[in-house]
Amino acid sequence: MRFFVVLGTRPEIIKMSPVIHELERRKLDYSILHTGQHYSYNMDKVFFDVLGLPDAAYNLDVGSGSHGKQTGRMLIEIEGVLEKERPDVVLVQGDTNTVLAGALAAAKLGIKIGHVEAGLRSYDRTMPEEVNRVLADHCSDYLFAPTEVSRKNLLAEGINEKKIFVVGNTVVDALLKNRGLAMGNGNVLDLLDLSPKEYCLVTVHRQENVDNKERFSNILQGLRQIWREFGVPVVYPVHPRSRKQMETFGLHFDGVRLVDPVDFLSFLQLESNAKLVLTDSGGVQEEACIFGVPCVTLRDNTERPETLEVGANMLAGTYPDKIVECAKTMVSKNGGWPNPFGDGTTGQQIVETLCNFPLFED
Ligand code: UD1
Ligand code: UDP
Repeated sequence: MRFFVVLGTRPEIIKMSPVIHELERRKLDYSILHTGQHYSYNMDKVFFDVLGLPDAAYNLDVGSGSHGKQTGRMLIEIEGVLEKERPDVVLVQGDTNTVLAGALAAAKLGIKIGHVEAGLRSYDRTMPEEVNRVLADHCSDYLFAPTEVSRKNLLAEGINEKKIFVVGNTVVDALLKNRGLAMGNGNVLDLLDLSPKEYCLVTVHRQENVDNKERFSNILQGLRQIWREFGVPVVYPVHPRSRKQMETFGLHFDGVRLVDPVDFLSFLQLESNAKLVLTDSGGVQEEACIFGVPCVTLRDNTERPETLEVGANMLAGTYPDKIVECAKTMVSKNGGWPNPFGDGTTGQQIVETLCNFPLFED
């Protein structure tokens, strides 16, 4: 069997790494196709280096653009590669434009699709990610759902249960493998002059927040209030979309320490030692939950309700007072909640399933 792993953004590189390592360990025939959706060194290449991933066989260098242009360019280019290479299975992960283009290109060529992290739902169709994940799920043949919650979401949409495999989330594999490495990777806390459990870590990059001046300003105000009331540094590694929008809107981040995005090992150090994480990221909500670090999500909904159910996370939206109220509630918790995302064998389970499970015909 020949596999093609299609990826293009920071979280896909991180969360596909356990699958790629397992394909490699079993000496299976696979290639990586990188769309080039992310391309800056600190959003792309640094993750290949830190995670020890082989170079992509193809890099389409699609780059940035409006959703239609970016997805359309990827679709055209991916189709060309898949027509030439004719793999048996295309693997995609998550909910980005890369995922939609990869799944759609494969579906139209009759190539089987495995969707890693299938079945997540925010039920908010204004988010580009929700549209991408729903469409990718509905054209996939192997749906690797992280939890029972995601399996039920898929069943409720009429997806055949024989296609759904509950395997956990590869994020756990990535954390277990890299947490130890992170501790031996220099000390980003020293570099930033931070002490364990005496700072808050922030990531904000989602379109619905940073492309909206009012929402982004409100978040900023909430973070400033936390800095004042908690008396600890608030550190924010800034995604390039957010950096661009800060400049466009002329926003000032007094009280919040802006730094460039950091590599995965440095981020794991920052995350696992934080007093509190405030984020609109999907992956960061999961990682904080797994590390036992309290999380406040700067969104009105989440497709990761498991983190709310175990008590690891609260939805604050973007009103400053609500952000501060949720932050106070969360820092009073001691962690100790269960990890709902699996035991760190998700990459192995996915490859095992692909090798052993007969291809399902509708
Ligand atoms: C994308 C995903 C989002 C995911 C995020 C992970 C979609 C619709 N969105 O959002 O779900 O959470 O990746 O980080 O696929 N830019 C750079 N360098 C880069 C990449 C982007 O400077 O390497 C800048 C460009 O100005 C670009 C902007 O960031 O226009 C947005 O990039 P894009 O890939 O379109 O979306 P993300 O916001 O990264
Ligand atoms: N991350 C990182 N460096 C940073 C910020 C985040 O390595 O400066 C990692 C983080 O550990 C997580 C992933 O990036 O694994 C999350 O990606 P992002 O927030 O960009 O996307 P999302 O998960 O929201 O799709």
